[in-house]
Amino acid sequence: MRNPITRITRNAIATAHIGLASVTLHTRPGWHSSLAVRWEGTHRARTLRAISTQSPLASGNTRQSSSRGPFLPLFALIGGAVGIAFTTLGFVDLEAAKNGPEDGGEMAGDFRPDLPTYTQRQVSSHNQLPPDGPGVWVTYRRGVYDVTRFIENHPGGERIMLAAGGPVDPFWGVYRNHAADHVWEILESHRIGNVEEGAKWDVDLSKVGDPFALDPVRGPELIMLNTRPCNAESPPSTLADDFVTPVDTFYVRNHFGVPLEQEQHTLLVEVEGGKTYEVDLDELRKMPKKSVIAVVQCAGNRRKDMHLFKPVQGILWGPGAISCGLYTGVPLKDLLKRVGVTSERGGLHHVQFEALDKYGSSIPLSKALDPLGDVIVAYEHNEEAITRDHGSPLRVIVPGHVAARSVKFLKRVVVSKEESHAQWQRRDYKMFPPHVTPDTADYSTVPAIQTMPVNSAISHPTPGDRISPSDATMPVKGWAWSGDGKLITSVEVSVDGGSTWAPARLDQGKEWVEKNVSDPDAKRDALVSIDRGWAWMKWELDVDTKTLERGKELTLMCRARDSSGGEQPRSFDLVYNFRGFNGNAYHKVTVQVASK
Ligand code: HEM
Repeated sequence: MRNPITRITRNAIATAHIGLASVTLHTRPGWHSSLAVRWEGTHRARTLRAISTQSPLASGNTRQSSSRGPFLPLFALIGGAVGIAFTTLGFVDLEAAKNGPEDGGEMAGDFRPDLPTYTQRQVSSHNQLPPDGPGVWVTYRRGVYDVTRFIENHPGGERIMLAAGGPVDPFWGVYRNHAADHVWEILESHRIGNVEEGAKWDVDLSKVGDPFALDPVRGPELIMLNTRPCNAESPPSTLADDFVTPVDTFYVRNHFGVPLEQEQHTLLVEVEGGKTYEVDLDELRKMPKKSVIAVVQCAGNRRKDMHLFKPVQGILWGPGAISCGLYTGVPLKDLLKRVGVTSERGGLHHVQFEALDKYGSSIPLSKALDPLGDVIVAYEHNEEAITRDHGSPLRVIVPGHVAARSVKFLKRVVVSKEESHAQWQRRDYKMFPPHVTPDTADYSTVPAIQTMPVNSAISHPTPGDRISPSDATMPVKGWAWSGDGKLITSVEVSVDGGSTWAPARLDQGKEWVEKNVSDPDAKRDALVSIDRGWAWMKWELDVDTKTLERGKELTLMCRARDSSGGEQPRSFDLVYNFRGFNGNAYHKVTVQVASK
């Protein structure tokens, strides 16, 4: 596909001199720009905040019309250029975000008199991993950090090496997901010293560019936790009321910038050391198709609740990192048949997925081949072509499994003896027992998360809502789901701190399917997938408000059970894990009961 940027000026140059940093941007065909930044890491970046926040790109609200007019690429380029410039300086916001106490306490990267001071030359010579190099150091403000051992655990993979031997903050201005407490904590845990005063770094950001400049427009109702990369929750209204989540309010979990629209796309299906099959979108659409209604849930859904119990590392998702979609595509097992794989043999046990954005992960081959497993390579989401944020042009849907395996922007499928080597299979999305800490975690001892435990949450009312006791009843609504096709058998609600529980009405969504799915084949398949437990259940209970104590806080709780006898735990103590995965203790929402 032709990159829109190649249609315009080839050598725009933007130079900005802002504060102590001088930024020169040379654009060239392709969406990576060549950007050199002279950075003096000793000043207080906070002084630049007023300038950086003037740019909407700097504040992360990157928006772009999905229908590209002739001038849009130019605006996108200029916006991207300014965005990169300001983004580079945008670690101002990072620092402002969560960087330790503001009241004079120690901040990440402060000078530490108890530690040795290294010259800039010493730092920059630490830019290669052993055995070929001495190890990898990075700086943040005055801090020097030895991240040699952290690199293999870095959730963003090998991109961290771009900062090897120099400052990380220019890169964190691009990938703003680093503006989080746990990132500063991880960084400080690797602190070895200070960098000499007045160090000046020439940082080459050309390999990073601005990967988010052309991200798509997003629905205003999404609860945005991060825009670079985009991590956004479905709003409570849609979680409470929609059986199939509309695309605009479907939660978004991106790991990198969203790949550009692919006018032409070829999927590669391979067997390690065996056959390869290439199929383009037109051919895929002609193959026998299958639909499935499936829940897509991030392993970190409800992490915020677990974090309140005890701190965890990761994006602090509320109960909205979950949605339910109607997907249509080609059964993965039919594609595997084209390369001669119809059973587990010759030690082949895994199917690896690779994405256009370099994300990767894998599932067991047994799931892919299971005729009742309903794994599909989808090209439609809610009866429309998959949108960019949701994996265009192809997303593999692995019903009953964690969303990390339903890889978006799918480009390659490999049947292998081994699990994917990607970070997100081997070093992330693993659930350790409660006693394991980041320092004692041995990723090789714990399997990758595939299926998920029973979970439920209250989506209406929402925390802080005011309940009027003059209304006879108050509807309490939410979602419940369990992984691996286990059906929800009950959801109960308590309004008295868990002493008594009332059963909620369950809605399997079959009526919704009958009324709303237009394609008869998709309707038939959707009803089957509901019976197989791939979809969630919506539930509702009318609480009698007359019995509630007026003028007081009220804590509502919900809990679900599944067909295997699995039940949500009362508290997070037994399921606590430092990455905050699979958080499924009883969900609580505190509201205010009005006095009249
Ligand atoms: C020592 C320095 C660094 C530390 C301590 C660090 C730490 C982290 C952490 C903790 C996350 C996960 C954040 C989350 O919870 O979502 C993360 C993600 C990420 N990091 Fe870094 N990082 C460092 C350097 C870098 C650099 C230099 C780059 C790029 C050039 C980078 C690129 C990324 C990306 C793209 C992700 C997102 C991965 C995803 O969402 O799956 N990181 N990093």
